[in-house]
Amino acid sequence: MQNSQFGIIGLGTMGRNLLLNIADHNFSCAGYDKNADQVNLLNQEKENRPVQAFNSLEQFISALQQPRSIVLLVPAGKIVDDVIAELEPLLSRGDIIVDAGNSYFKDTELRAKKLSEKGFHFFGTGVSGGEEGARKGPSMMPGGDKKAYEILKEVFEAIAAKVDDEPCVTYIGPGGAGHYVKMVHNGIEYALMQLIAETYEAMKKGLHLNNAEIATVYKKWNEGRLQSFLLEITADIFQYKNPGTDDFLVDQIKDQARSKGTGKWTSEESMELEVPAPIIDMAVSMRNLSKYKWLREGVAARYPGEVKSPVINDKTVFLASLESALYFATIITYAQGMHLLYKASKDYGYDLNAAGIAKIWRGGCIIRSAFLENIYTTFKKNASLEHLLLDDQVQSIIQKLIEPMRDVVCDLTRAGIAAPALGSALNYFDSLRTKNMPSSLIQAQRDYFGAHTYELEGKEGVFHTKWTGA
Ligand code: 6PG
Repeated sequence: MQNSQFGIIGLGTMGRNLLLNIADHNFSCAGYDKNADQVNLLNQEKENRPVQAFNSLEQFISALQQPRSIVLLVPAGKIVDDVIAELEPLLSRGDIIVDAGNSYFKDTELRAKKLSEKGFHFFGTGVSGGEEGARKGPSMMPGGDKKAYEILKEVFEAIAAKVDDEPCVTYIGPGGAGHYVKMVHNGIEYALMQLIAETYEAMKKGLHLNNAEIATVYKKWNEGRLQSFLLEITADIFQYKNPGTDDFLVDQIKDQARSKGTGKWTSEESMELEVPAPIIDMAVSMRNLSKYKWLREGVAARYPGEVKSPVINDKTVFLASLESALYFATIITYAQGMHLLYKASKDYGYDLNAAGIAKIWRGGCIIRSAFLENIYTTFKKNASLEHLLLDDQVQSIIQKLIEPMRDVVCDLTRAGIAAPALGSALNYFDSLRTKNMPSSLIQAQRDYFGAHTYELEGKEGVFHTKWTGA
């Protein structure tokens, strides 16, 4: 068998699963990996699907139909450049390379530029959904040359997750746009995970619920307006016991969160473009803080201040408020992410379609949730909306959540239970609805100590004052 329609380089878990997904949709596929074990694994898994597995790059390349479409599923960073360098001499003009890893969008911009000068197309493509998504249908965010996307479209639409029969993939924009949108997806992912973790802390330390009870709460929440993939897996986690024992695995896992960096990039980008996304910042900071176990133990010993008990008088009322608080903060998180996309769309000339992005995030990806349907309809109605909080429907939802949100943040603060992302969501909201911020004082201070000047309400120009009168 020769002439495969599609090629995959990197036959690790993600690569093999994506390849089998493509083959299941009757596209012939060739896979290549340097590591012979991965090639053998694919040979065992392929059964009678139209799949060829290679350990030689040259053989792999000559088994592909032209123009070639080759998807890289290799770790982000230098390896992507190394693989491209190996590939280049074997390719022909018009061939397409798709980088489906979590590459940094600025690297993607550079690679796309260099490769297009040589006559190749490069697609930085965000792929979300983990192992299961790759196998059964991910959400895909391809960015690159719009015309060349027509060649990929059929396969991508076939293998992507579907919501209401519509594929969770759409052309995102030029250059690094696909990886940019995936980066913001991950920033949102970090924030939502941190928010859920804070509700866990509240239930565990504030209400003294056990794991089974916590699982029941998450399951119930997941049946309502908060329905999401992350809540669904969270409920599962609180039910999982080590096989043959009564021990919950979650209780044995170290409380030190790791990360590969996409959340940090989102925060850095929000600073770069001056679009505040403090819940994402906080989520990144809390992962970092979690790593300082020794420091936390030292400080905990000095400031024990056990959680005041009973913190919360009415469990049922508190749980209802906590659900509202999580919903409130979830909405604000998406709003911050979409706001960043709004600015990036203009600053980088990506011309992003906010409705299209919300639409493909409704299925397959890690941040899929019921609320994405609202975001989709909101931007479909008004494509140029700057911020979700300016939408009537979102406004009416948020208004009902403000009071319980405040109750939760107050209760947890009084109890000494940390809820930094929940608190950040509320403070962002309160700042955003402030017509006159205290930033006038900051301007005065800057002018006082550094003669940085200030502007005045209702008067043109910049001014400086000798504040001591001297
Ligand atoms: C996805 C995820 C995935 C990401 C992991 C781990 O959309 O499928 O975002 O791409 O790699 O979630 O990310 P961290 O290691 O940074 O937590």
